[in-house]
Amino acid sequence: MDANKLIEKTTSFKVNGKQIELTLPPTYRLVDILRDSLSLTGTKVACEVGRCGACSVIMNGKLVNSCLIMAYQMEDAEIFTIESLSEERLHPIQEAFLQAGALQCGYCTPGMIIALKSLLDEEEQPSKEDVLTALSGNLCRCTGYEGILRAVDLLTKKRHETIGEGKE
Ligand code: FES
Ligand code: FES
Repeated sequence: MDANKLIEKTTSFKVNGKQIELTLPPTYRLVDILRDSLSLTGTKVACEVGRCGACSVIMNGKLVNSCLIMAYQMEDAEIFTIESLSEERLHPIQEAFLQAGALQCGYCTPGMIIALKSLLDEEEQPSKEDVLTALSGNLCRCTGYEGILRAVDLLTKKRHETIGEGKE
């Protein structure tokens, strides 16, 4: 008999505003729950050990690596994935990525956008150092980060203009 089955537990949490209840082994990982149980495949899995940031999501207002979060840690949690950013139209971060040519591969981009969302939720006009620190857990070994820094410049400039015009 599968030992995990003996200790499955019902866990309730919210993902992208939707209440979810699943019966799972307590050591089932959040990244697998998102991708396999909820078909939210925008969150990627690469290193599986908390080093690359591909699996980044926002949980209870904080940026986390979903490959390191287990079902037993998720009771009553509120989670936002990359899918939450574009339910109706592209999020301004995604628009800035498009305009600045910052889109990289499908593995690293969602995690980077989520890391920036988490930063911009806390800091409206981040400095370059803030951006670099926020992205320090998101690895890309291919193209570098110049496009991403251009996108953040564009985004913060736009925010500044909007605030200056009193539109927010
Ligand atoms: S897959 Fe989670 S940090 Fe790399
Ligand atoms: S890992 Fe995505 S472009 Fe390098």
